[in-house]
Amino acid sequence: MSNTTFTWRRVAAMGAVAALSFGALTACSSERGDSGSTGDASADGGAASADPGDVLVGIAMPTKSLERWNRDGAHLEELLKDDGFSTSLQYADNKVDQQISQVENMINDGADILVVASIDGTALAPVLQTAADAGITVIAYDRLINGTDNVDYYATFDNYGVGQMQGEFIVDQLDLENTTETYNLEPFAGSPDDNNAKFFFAGAWDVLQPYVESGTLVVPSGKAPASDDDWQSIGIQGWSSDTAQSEMENRLNSFYSGGEKVDVVLSPNDSLALGIAQALAGAGYTPGDGYPILTGQDADKANVLNMLAGKQAMTVWKDTRTLGDQVATMVSEIAAGQEVTVNDTESYDNGNKVVPTYLLPPQVITPDTVNVLVDSGFYTAADLGL
Ligand code: BGC
Repeated sequence: MSNTTFTWRRVAAMGAVAALSFGALTACSSERGDSGSTGDASADGGAASADPGDVLVGIAMPTKSLERWNRDGAHLEELLKDDGFSTSLQYADNKVDQQISQVENMINDGADILVVASIDGTALAPVLQTAADAGITVIAYDRLINGTDNVDYYATFDNYGVGQMQGEFIVDQLDLENTTETYNLEPFAGSPDDNNAKFFFAGAWDVLQPYVESGTLVVPSGKAPASDDDWQSIGIQGWSSDTAQSEMENRLNSFYSGGEKVDVVLSPNDSLALGIAQALAGAGYTPGDGYPILTGQDADKANVLNMLAGKQAMTVWKDTRTLGDQVATMVSEIAAGQEVTVNDTESYDNGNKVVPTYLLPPQVITPDTVNVLVDSGFYTAADLGL
């Protein structure tokens, strides 16, 4: 396949995706961003009109221990290989130092473009300076990289929107706008070193905090951050299921020992929700009436199975295949020396600059709508025991 053919196929495909996703995005966060703006790839050191076969793309993923990153890495690598690029895909076992040396190795191996899903969004600035000095273009994948000028583009889902969906789901389920009841809520937040976790929490807390202030939602553990900025006080390091489980066990043992019941648990993602569901089971909660509303994110298989078993009320699905498609498009545009398409040039300030971003739309899945995951081919019916 000639370079020209490859470029136009990818760019044309991307145009269709952009049109679709922007429609969905404006529906849920109309004040954000402007569609279809572009960044100049060549001005950012992108390899102008390189043959894909001569372009090495380093892909740094955080960990194999969480289902989604395995899918993300494999899908992106496959797309890039199909387009003729050379790739180096590395997982860092959630260890920051390991990720830094993997990125160093990619630079030494002659990478032209780096795609990085960071573990700690603040720890990569020095190694990215080395990358910039070598003329490498850097795409932050899913998680923003902070405190550096040397991140050129960012592709992610509407992270604030994810949290909003979780908060609004809780409001709808309990009819909080109209109820005269009070409900016990236990909120959790994601890993303190992950920039996304701040957005997830803010999206949910902006919806829920008014009900905490009015007394409709009561937080018996007292672990209700005073504002969005205090989210790290309830963050679960490394998004660990085990840590979330022990934290939930502690809260249940310390604050619910007199027969009180927890009605809602705000969990920012599925790995935490898995641990929280274990803690609930250990404390005698069984699916059915009186089982708390438990939120999540990612539509991990174990959590979809939990949803079908009545142990989790919802998840926010981010079709990571579309993120891979978008990043593969960015890589192709950079390699072809073309402008890189983004649709948000306002929301993601990393402390040094506002990073041009492509935002994709997330989607709520409940036990009644898991068929969406099957119909889209994300899972087979057999995967879900259907
Ligand atoms: C991702 C989530 C994921 C979490 C833990 C976040 O940065 O956006 O999808 O659940 O990391 O891996």
